[in-house]
Formats: sequence, structure tokens, C-alpha cells
Amino acid sequence: MTLRTLESLGSLEGKRVIVRCDLNVPLRDGVITDDGRVRASLPTLNALINAGARVIVCSHLGRPDGAPDPQYSLEPVAQRLSELLGAPVAFARDTVGESAQDAVSSLEDGGVVVIENLRFNAGETAKDDATRQAFAAELAKLGDVLVSDGFGVVHRKQASVYELAELLPSAAGLLIETELDVLDRLTEKPERPYAVVLGGSKVSDKLGVISHLLPRVDRILVGGGMLFTFLKAQGHAVASSLLEEDQLDVVRGYIAEAEERGVELVLPTDVLVAASFSADAAHEVAAADAIEATAFGASGIGLDIGPETAARFAEVIRGSKTVFWNGPMGVFEFPAFAAGTKTVAQALTEVDGLSVVGGGDSAAAVRQLGFTDDQFGHISTGGGASLEFLEGKKLPGLEVLGWA
Ligand code: 3PG
Repeated sequence: MTLRTLESLGSLEGKRVIVRCDLNVPLRDGVITDDGRVRASLPTLNALINAGARVIVCSHLGRPDGAPDPQYSLEPVAQRLSELLGAPVAFARDTVGESAQDAVSSLEDGGVVVIENLRFNAGETAKDDATRQAFAAELAKLGDVLVSDGFGVVHRKQASVYELAELLPSAAGLLIETELDVLDRLTEKPERPYAVVLGGSKVSDKLGVISHLLPRVDRILVGGGMLFTFLKAQGHAVASSLLEEDQLDVVRGYIAEAEERGVELVLPTDVLVAASFSADAAHEVAAADAIEATAFGASGIGLDIGPETAARFAEVIRGSKTVFWNGPMGVFEFPAFAAGTKTVAQALTEVDGLSVVGGGDSAAAVRQLGFTDDQFGHISTGGGASLEFLEGKKLPGLEVLGWA
């Protein structure tokens, strides 16, 4: 089966089109710090506006507890969307209540409304199928068709992603199409050498992807908080750095499997160790096998890969034809510990082939560090979704659109 695309919905002129986007953007004090996901939703929204549809945008933001919570309101997102579209965007203060119904019935052809956070309703994320179906039925009353375009959430079996797509005529939007084109190139005959760079804090989040990729890639580079579990598995002391003791055996298994398969596992040879977890903490470079030998002894915390490692990672990345990167190399939010992430990002921009940045954190990191989207082959809007795709998992939000 192939993915149903916008054309399959026929003429949308005058129709009420619900668009499920992923507008889950990072906010600080109510201000959007990275609007990448809002920008990524524009091609589909513009196509629908130009087709004369009445556009009802819905999304989740954060993880509220199934009830309204002002810190997770989509209102700032609706404002940003209006600026980017260069057109007025109405905002409904609820999701399926009176405000949403009124806003939808006031829409003109080519008009846009954003309805409030889907997750202010317990039915959106309910474990129980019937509760999700009941909420999807409420949502379905707002529209004639559904365009599903929230790639970042297709791995979630949630009411607006799955059940709603069964209730209304539904198709994927342009963002989902683009994301799948690129991720397909990573899974179907990638140009070699193929390198995967993994960072971020938890090994346990990356286990599925590492075991699925080991038979498929030529090189795996490990940075971020998860590197310490790898170093410990190699027998090195890691002072007070992040460590997942319960994953040590699994990681030892990966190290052995990589060797058997001839996959180059590139682990840090030095790290930046800090006195504490803070932006202005004193810090020193330590060899990966002497992390406790710094002035901070056993209380030191590794917060970034070291300069020798960053240079080696950059060399391996630049020498690869396909590179997928998920997860920052260090605590990039603190300038003193951003160098590893910056060096890796820079190397990705120099790849003579396909470079893909996957995930909310990595995407936010590259933009915060001053890179622009056009310097990379692709910046995926999906963190968990792109990893689960690469793990070869079936994603409910794609299956319901005909993808198999
Ligand atoms: C993401 O940020 O990865 C998506 O928006 C999904 O969010 P969730 O992990 O809260 O479901």
C-alpha cells in the first residue's frame, strides 16, 4: 500500500480541512525559541489556502495532563503562524467546544484557524481505544477531511493522529511526504560509507535504533550523555557523569557486535569534565580513560566531548557519503559545553552526500548555534518518530494513511 497524498482528496475548495500538524515548539517565558516546526508546516498550509480550503490547524504542545494549562497554550504559535503566512489566523480558546465551533463556522474559503492544544483533552492521549475514538468523533465534527502532516507525532497512536484519520477521508500532507522521501533514502540503499552519529542523554532511548542500525551502517559515533555508559562498559571510571548502569551489558553486547560485523564504533578519546552541572562551572579536558584524574576527582561531570574527539568525529563525518545525526554531543545550551555539538554540526554541513539532522533537540541545537536549514540535506521535524522509522517500526500515524 502506498501513502495517500493530498491529490487523493480531490478538490478542497470550500471544504473544512482539519490539518494535524506537529507545532510542538520549544518555548521560554511564552516566547518560541525555535519555530522550525511552524515553518515546516507552511508548504501544506499554503497549498490548502491556495486551493480555497477552510483550514483548521490542530496540534499538541508539550505534555499537559489532559486538561487546560496556560503554559502549553498554542496561542503564541497561532501568532507566529500568522506572521509566517502573512495572513490573519484566528485562534480558538478550546479544542472542540463552543469557541472552536464558532471559529470554524466563521471561516471563509482560504481562511485559517488554530484550535487550542489537543492534549488539553484527556481523550487525545487516552490509553483506552474507546475514549480516544470518542474524542476523535468530536474532532471529526469540525471538518470534512483530515490532512495529517505532523510527522513528529506519527509514532503516537493518539486520537488526532490515528482514530481521526479513520473517521474522515484522510491523506498525508507535504511535510510527511518530504520526511518519508528522505528517511527512505537512509533505509533503501544509502550511499556508503554510511555514518550515524548518536548523542543525547539516554542510551535506553537509542537502544532500538542502535541494534537495528548495526547491520546496516558502516560507522556509529557516540557522544552526548550516553557516551559515559559506553566508556564505563569499556572499563573506564566516569566520575559523576550520567551513567545508565542497567544498560552496561547491552552496551557491551553492541561493542562486541560492532567488532564482529566490522562496523567502526567511534567512541570519545577525551571529554570535557566540569566541577558541576552549570553554565559557568570550572572545567578541564580529560582523557576518556582518566576522567577521575581532573581537579574535580570523582565529583567531576562530563558535559561535552573533548576537542580531540570532536576533531575525529568531524573527520569521520566528512569522509562519509550518508550521515544521520540524532542528539547533541554535550550540554549545548551552556556555551562552554557547546563546542562538540558545533563541530559535529559544522562537519555535517561539509558532507559530500546526504546529511540528515533528526530530532527536536538536534534541530534546535543547530539553529541555536547559528546554522541555517539550507546548510544540511534535511532537518527532520521528528525526534522519536525519525528514530522509530529508522528502527524499522510500524508507525500508526503512517499506517492509517496507507503507508506499509
Ligand atoms: C516530539 O517533540 O518529538 C513530538 O512533538 C512528539 O511529542 P511527544 O513525545 O510529547 O509525544
